[in-house]
Amino acid sequence: MTVALEKAIENKSAVVGVIGLGYVGLPLIRAFIAAGFRTMGFDVDQSKVDRLLHGESYIGHISSDWIAECVENRKFVPTADMKRLSEADALLICVPTPLSESRDPDLYYVEETTRQISKSLRPGQLIVLESTTYPGTTRDVVLPILAKSGLKVGSDFFLAYSPEREDPGNPNFSASVIPKVVGGYDAESLKLAQALYAFAVTKVVPVSSCEVAEACKILENTYRSVNIAMVNELKMLFDRIGIDVWEVIDAAKTKPFGFQAFYPGPGLGGHCIPIDPFYLSWVARKHGQATRFIELAGEINTHMPEYVIHRLAQALNEQGKPLNGSKICILGIAYKKDVDDPRESPSFELMDLLRAGHSKLSYNDPHVPRMPKVRHHDAPDMTSTPLTADFLASQDCVLIATDHSAYDYDFIVRHSRLVIDTRNATKNVREGREKIRKA
Ligand SMILES: NC(=O)c1ccc[n+]([C@@H]2O[C@H](COP(=O)([O-])OP(=O)(O)OC[C@H]3O[C@@H](n4cnc5c(N)ncnc54)[C@H](O)[C@@H]3O)[C@@H](O)[C@H]2O)c1
Repeated sequence: MTVALEKAIENKSAVVGVIGLGYVGLPLIRAFIAAGFRTMGFDVDQSKVDRLLHGESYIGHISSDWIAECVENRKFVPTADMKRLSEADALLICVPTPLSESRDPDLYYVEETTRQISKSLRPGQLIVLESTTYPGTTRDVVLPILAKSGLKVGSDFFLAYSPEREDPGNPNFSASVIPKVVGGYDAESLKLAQALYAFAVTKVVPVSSCEVAEACKILENTYRSVNIAMVNELKMLFDRIGIDVWEVIDAAKTKPFGFQAFYPGPGLGGHCIPIDPFYLSWVARKHGQATRFIELAGEINTHMPEYVIHRLAQALNEQGKPLNGSKICILGIAYKKDVDDPRESPSFELMDLLRAGHSKLSYNDPHVPRMPKVRHHDAPDMTSTPLTADFLASQDCVLIATDHSAYDYDFIVRHSRLVIDTRNATKNVREGREKIRKA
């Protein structure tokens, strides 16, 4: 079995199937097509599959023309038919791994996908989990479901874990130029996964087990969460003593070793950093250990929207205005600059707090034309208001939550009465700085 798959990978006749065609899955398909492989894309969401079949992208940085061309020449076959999973030689799982209501890992999507694979698993297939998860998931959750097929891992089929490191919206790092960590269940699985990814990415980093690869991804995201919490805490402290934290960070990062810059903001967003560290906390609890760094970082980062609104209320108060009845426009609903992804965006919490204060809300986001429905927040049904000079002048305050590059910050500050800047987006604005409050 190994030899057949190895040959198919070597001569690129292997069909690469990606399960979960979202922010991670679609760029991965693109990397394998660029490497010369034929691909299949599986998703339970029929509407996504239909859009792809019609040559339409739903992810900002993946072009519709490219989708149309690849679907047309059969390099990419999108389908919602899970019975076709057996047609792929390698299956890469990129489904969501959220938290449950009680902030525990919710592996429903991974388990459900694995059940589907297990039903049609055939000898010679390589299965790789890419979804972010806690160490032990591939061995303890995925393998037992696949084993129900009656096939044996390491000889009939092969199993590996390789975390995705996608950075949506970052033009310098598409999937193919990011080194990929791979851990195999056994030596054969590692060899095959390594051979496959070597075609699609700039560098493969083999590690000794699936657990090391799983832990590596969680370390990377916990590292970010903790460091962002630290600069968020310093932002609040430095503000009290009249120091601009962004200027401090810019100065500190001139040190050529031993320092990496992280930036404060209105709170954490996205599918990864607010969520993944809690996968590790859950495992730690099972082993009787606390993860104090993770809990503390979560506490500080979660508090940031309240801090921002407190600063905003203070600034309005200086002008003799209460939150109640003030017109406030939030700039940016996406969780970070230049993307259209609103998942876990702190803007929703900012909106909840402003609505609780009875402010009159509006928003603008060039990448999010209509307010999306998200879990845990009851956001009003609004559309993005164009930022005309008259509109800006009509607002009591403009709150910059996301520093999209599309914004003309000189124009925004010129026409606004008060600007609360949570990202240092206005750092190059020269005129009207007296109207800006960093928060
Ligand atoms: N978005 C990122 O920047 C990023 C970066 C690194 C890692 N990750 C991780 O990658 C994984 C996927 O994240 P994403 O952002 O691509 O999520 P996403 O929500 O954009 O896409 C997931 C897709 O999986 C589909 N899906 C759900 N259940 C399915 C099933 N049983 N069978 C087939 N398809 C199914 C959904 O319909 C959706 O289209 C997560 O574990 C995430 O933590 C995400």
